[in-house]
Parts: sequence; structure tokens; C-alpha cells
Amino acid sequence: MSELAGLFSPKSAAIIGASKSPGKIGNVIIKNMISSGYKGKVFPVNPKEPEIEGLRCYPSVDKIPEPVEMAVLSVPAAKSMEIAEVCGKQGVKYLVVITAGFKETGKEGLELERKLLEICRRYNMKMLGPNCVGLMDTHAPINASFAAGFPLKGEIAFISQSGAMVLSILDWSYRAGLGFSKFISLGNKADLTEAHFIEDAAEDPNTKVILCYIEDVENGPHFLDVARKASRKKPVIILKSGTSQAGAQAASSHTGALAGSDLAYETAFRQSGVIRARNMPELFDLAVAFANQPIPGGDRVAVITNSGGPGIVATDNIEEKKLKMARFTKETIEALRSYLPAESNIYNPVDVLGDAKADRFHYALKTVLADPGVDSAVVLVCPAAVTEPVETARAMAQMRKEFPGTPLFAALMGGTRLEEGEKVLSESNIPCFTFPEPAITSISGMVSYGRIKGLPAEIKPLSFNNIDLKTVKATLYDVKKDNRLVLLGSEAAEIISAYGISAAPTVLASSPDEAAAQADRLGYPVVLKIASPKIMHKTDVGGVKIGLDSREKVSRGFMEIMDNVHRYLPNVAVYGVEVQKMMPRGVELIIGMTRDIQFGPLIAFGLGGIYVNLLKDVSFRLVNGLTESEINSMIAETKAYTLLRGYRGEKPADIESVLKIIGRVAKLAGDFPEINEIDINPVFAYNQGASALDVKITIS
Ligand code: COA
Repeated sequence: MSELAGLFSPKSAAIIGASKSPGKIGNVIIKNMISSGYKGKVFPVNPKEPEIEGLRCYPSVDKIPEPVEMAVLSVPAAKSMEIAEVCGKQGVKYLVVITAGFKETGKEGLELERKLLEICRRYNMKMLGPNCVGLMDTHAPINASFAAGFPLKGEIAFISQSGAMVLSILDWSYRAGLGFSKFISLGNKADLTEAHFIEDAAEDPNTKVILCYIEDVENGPHFLDVARKASRKKPVIILKSGTSQAGAQAASSHTGALAGSDLAYETAFRQSGVIRARNMPELFDLAVAFANQPIPGGDRVAVITNSGGPGIVATDNIEEKKLKMARFTKETIEALRSYLPAESNIYNPVDVLGDAKADRFHYALKTVLADPGVDSAVVLVCPAAVTEPVETARAMAQMRKEFPGTPLFAALMGGTRLEEGEKVLSESNIPCFTFPEPAITSISGMVSYGRIKGLPAEIKPLSFNNIDLKTVKATLYDVKKDNRLVLLGSEAAEIISAYGISAAPTVLASSPDEAAAQADRLGYPVVLKIASPKIMHKTDVGGVKIGLDSREKVSRGFMEIMDNVHRYLPNVAVYGVEVQKMMPRGVELIIGMTRDIQFGPLIAFGLGGIYVNLLKDVSFRLVNGLTESEINSMIAETKAYTLLRGYRGEKPADIESVLKIIGRVAKLAGDFPEINEIDINPVFAYNQGASALDVKITIS
């Protein structure tokens, strides 16, 4: 059983700040508790009143003669600490703090919130909020909130960082006829966060779909772990706002949330199996689809329409969403041909023509649903004069029953003429839209989930040998001692070599003679590069010379580089010149690492070279939870993959070696949190092996 089960079905609940005055929040909460059908004991707490709503009222929690499992706080912020302390002493297990005036108001509020949390931790009380609407559970039942009403009973849990969103969705849900298992308003998430409630809803037998609206994630690693496990049990659909720059600022000022970079969220959601909704309608379309439809067995969609145009729109959209138009069997095509008029299109999309009555829709739908190559179906109905919307909807309802394993969606493309048909569909739990796109978006979300569901919840971590921690520690120690945050190329190469990544041999030389001696040792030709932590773009300042094939050229090259750099940047500290063995060309790649504040290190892979920023052919994964199959899929997502496989007659490159470099960079990032960023650009991938040429590492 979830550790939050008691929060939704406590044996007793004190409403602190309960009020007799209609319209006050303390009055709404007590009425909501009573009218929800809550079966435990309710104790109103108010020092001035002997009785509220027919219940005996107590001046404080410590005067209640029985154990109190949950307390809902609805008194001003300044009084909350003292009351929380009394609750703790009385053995209250759960605190729901409705009160605003904490973190969201600034520094002083943040301090108050810290104190409140400290009290909760001291007494081992779990806290929802502060600054929240409260919680509701239709199955428990309980309504410990100040919402105007109680949801219809259903199987969707809605967890929201915005209280207003809870209130709006609740009101909207009556008209939409949508039922919920739980509504949770997270508020400031001082203690309990989205991850705790996702974990709880995943365990809840009354919840089939988990929906979240969030502005940020409180604890990245905890979230990833919980979301990964929950998504293997039931769909977790999240709308994360604050994706735009302006949106991120609004999020910060809203709940004091620190919105993380969207890229990290996108990666985190994908990697943990969360389905990301792009907007509010999509969030609820997906919720309805998952609540009422089976998960499709695959991505092959059949479309039935009485008009060509919408059929094409749907086909385009299916392709755009990376779904497939189902290819019917010979038997299906023959069956369609035998019944439909000769002018009909009997291939997908099936066009039953503008004069179709319900019988043609019925026959076509029954036939395609029986086809083993169809995983889901969409019916598009345009209101021609002879169209029979109600009968057509009834036929769909019947098919829904006859083929319970195949999801069925409808777009009734019109208005008033189709309203009665919509009603039939909604009563039959067939998601119905005005246009095809949302139906196809819903199918796409369900198909993605079908793939996620089959994945193991436990991940197999990457394993490595030949890791030389000591060398990395020693190198980082020297860099810190030198008061630098940027490593020299030779130091960076040493670090990645210590992690078993093959790097072009690079050594630092401080004089022309030393450079020539090193070149003799490495073998010709060599490359010379200026060594300075302050110079990021070495070529721009004349700091690179390539293809030097003799002692003389190397020592002359050394002097020329020094001259160039002194001319361009007279005041920049220079450590010498790096001599690097010149490597043959391979497929030019970039492998890098950057850190996200919430989710930790992110690994990047893509086409390398000087046009990295222009080409933007890069895929990302979080190091947290990274597996070999994730690395494989991050490689396969890029155009670089096409080159690696051997483009236009080229020999294929050694993808296995590239995979190993990515894994080892991830391991390095995980082992050394002080490494801030890694940029290996280029990595040359060869027919056999791969080599890192230019390595940049910064530390914090
Ligand atoms: N123990 C119990 N009750 C107490 C008390 C105590 N120590 N001290 C005072 N009370 C009583 C008050 O007398 C009052 O009862 P009354 O109506 O009979 O006089 C009741 O508790 C509430 O106190 P009051 O001072 O009237 O506060 P309020 O109702 O105006 O406001 C909040 C309290 C919590 C609603 C308000 O501070 C607040 O935070 N509002 C915003 C809530 C919000 O938006 N949350 C986030 C949603 S997203």
C-alpha cells in the first residue's frame, strides 16, 4: 500500500480554521468534508465557536479527545507554525496547508516555509502544500479542499501544481462528463511533490490514468525513478508549462518555481516513459482516450470517411505523427468491394462516399476492425443531407463492443447537425472530436505508451572496466591548485584516456625545441594548438597549425603560433603549445556533456565539426538511467547515424566504439560532479575504432 494512502482515507480529520461564516475558505472546507461522504470523524477547530455545521468544535487540536490522523490548515500564515507544532505533538500524520503567504511571496515567506517544513520533519508529519487548494478522492471519498464541488467518480488522477487549474478543470469536467479518482493541488511542494503523488496513484487500484500539470520538478532523480516505475504500470501524462523563455519567467513568479531548461524536461520525460502533452486540450484528450480505450497493439491506423478531403487531412496527420496507414488484407479489400459502391475508395482511407448512410459506415468499420493489420480506427463523418449521424454513432458504439481490443475514435466534422450523434458517442465512451487531428494525436500518445508499457521497470546500468579514477583525481587536483576552471587540451585528453576513451596523443611543449622533440616521439605529421584556458576558439587567433611533417616546420610553427596569439591577445596567459598526433579523417562527430540543475548530467551526440551549432544534428539523454539501448537509440535518432552506417558507398564506421565513448563520457560525468561540461569535438569514427581529437573540459 502507498505511504500516502492514509492521506486520502484518514480515520479522522481536524479542520483548523473552520468557520461558520459562509464564503470563508474555512467554511467551504468543512462543508466539503461533510458533503463528500467522508466516513471518518471530522473535528472543526476554532477557538471562538462551540459548534460548526452541526459538529462539536474544539479550541485547538490538543483539546480533541481522540487521535487525529490528518489536519487541514486554513488560518493565516503567521499562525501556522504554532498550530503545526501542536499537530505534531498530538501525533497528526498528515498536514494539508491551504494557507498562502509562503515561498511564493519572497524571502520572508520562504523562511516561514522552511520553518513549517522543519516542524513537519521533526514530528514525521507529511505535508501537502502550503498554498494549495487541498485534495479530493472520489473513491475514498474525501474532499479536503475549498473547491466549489466534488468531481464525478472516475479513474483519472489529476495532480496539479496550479490550484486555479484544479478549480477550472473540476468545473469543466461536469460539462464534459469526465470522472476523476483524485484531484491533488500540490501548492508550493515544500514536502510532498508530484513524484510522491505519481507513486501513490500508480499503486491506487481506482486510478487508471495519471495526469499532471507541473511548472517544475522538485527532485529530478526521485522524479525519474518514480516516473519510470509508474509508467510501466499505467500511463503518466504530463503538461509541463514554462517551456518558452517568457513562460519560464511566469512560472518563477507563479509558485516561486525555478523552471529548468526544457530540453532536460523533454529528455527526462521521454527517458522515463512519461507522455508529454503539449497543451491543455491534448492533456485531457489523452486522459479521455486512455480512460476509455484499450491500448492499441501497434501503429497501424484505419480511416473511414464519407469525404475525400478529411481523409487526406487524416492521412497527412497520421504520417506526421509517425503512425502508419494500415494496409488491408486481400480479404478485407474484397469484402469492401463487394458492399460499397464502385466509386468508393476501398483502400485506406476508406471513402464510403458523401451519400453514405449508417449502413455503409457500419459495414466498412466492421470489415476493417476484423482485419489483423488494423491496430486502431478513426471514423470521419461530414454532414451531407443524407448522413445519419445518430445511426452512424450507434453503429460505432456497437463495433466498440464487438471489437473491445481495438481503439476507436471519431471526428464528427460539423456542428448542430451532428450534436445528437456526439451524444451517442460520448455515452458509449468513444472519444469524439470536431476534426481528425486530436483523434490522431490521441492514438499517437497511446501507441507510444504501448511501447513504454512493455519495457522493464528496472534498468540495467552500464558497466565498465579500465577506469583510472586516480589519474582523473590527480589532474583535477592540479587544475584546481592552478586556480583554473578550464582544462588544457592535454589535461582533458589525459582525463578521457583515463576513462578508456581513445584520444589522439597530445602533449604540452613550452619551447620550439621541446615541440620538435615531442613531434619526433609522436611521429609525423602533427598538429600544433595554442594551450591557454582563456582561448576557446584557437583557429580564430592563428593558434592552430595542421599537417606539420618535419622538425623544422614544427619549431617554426611553434614560434608563429606564439607570435599570432601575442598579437591578437597580448594579455592572455599562455601555457605553451600542444603537439598532437595528426589523425586520419573519419566520420566527424560530437560527444558532449552538460549539467541540468534538476536532472543532472545530459549527454549529447551528433554530427561534429565546426558547423555543430548550424546543423543542430544532436540528440540528448540523461546520464541518470542511461542504458545501452538508450545510447543506441540516441545514435539512431541523428543524421550522423546515416553517415556512420556508410553513406554513398563509404565503409560503415565502428558504431560500437562510438557507443562506448558515449557510455564512458556518461560514467565520467556521473563519477565527477565537479566536471561541469565536456565537449569532444570532433570525435573521428573509423571503420575500426574511434578517436577523440579535441577535448574541452570545464569544472565548477
Ligand atoms: N486555531 C483555529 N482557528 C483559528 C485560530 C487558531 N489558532 N486562530 C484563528 N482561527 C479562526 C479564525 O477565528 C477564523 O474563524 P472565524 O471565521 O470564525 O472568525 C478562521 O480561523 C480563519 O482565520 P481568519 O483569520 O479569518 O483567516 P481567513 O479565513 O481570512 O484566511 C486563509 C485564512 C488560510 C484562507 C488565508 O490566510 C489564505 O491563505 N488565503 C489564500 C488561500 C489560497 O489562495 N491558497 C492557495 C490556493 S491555490
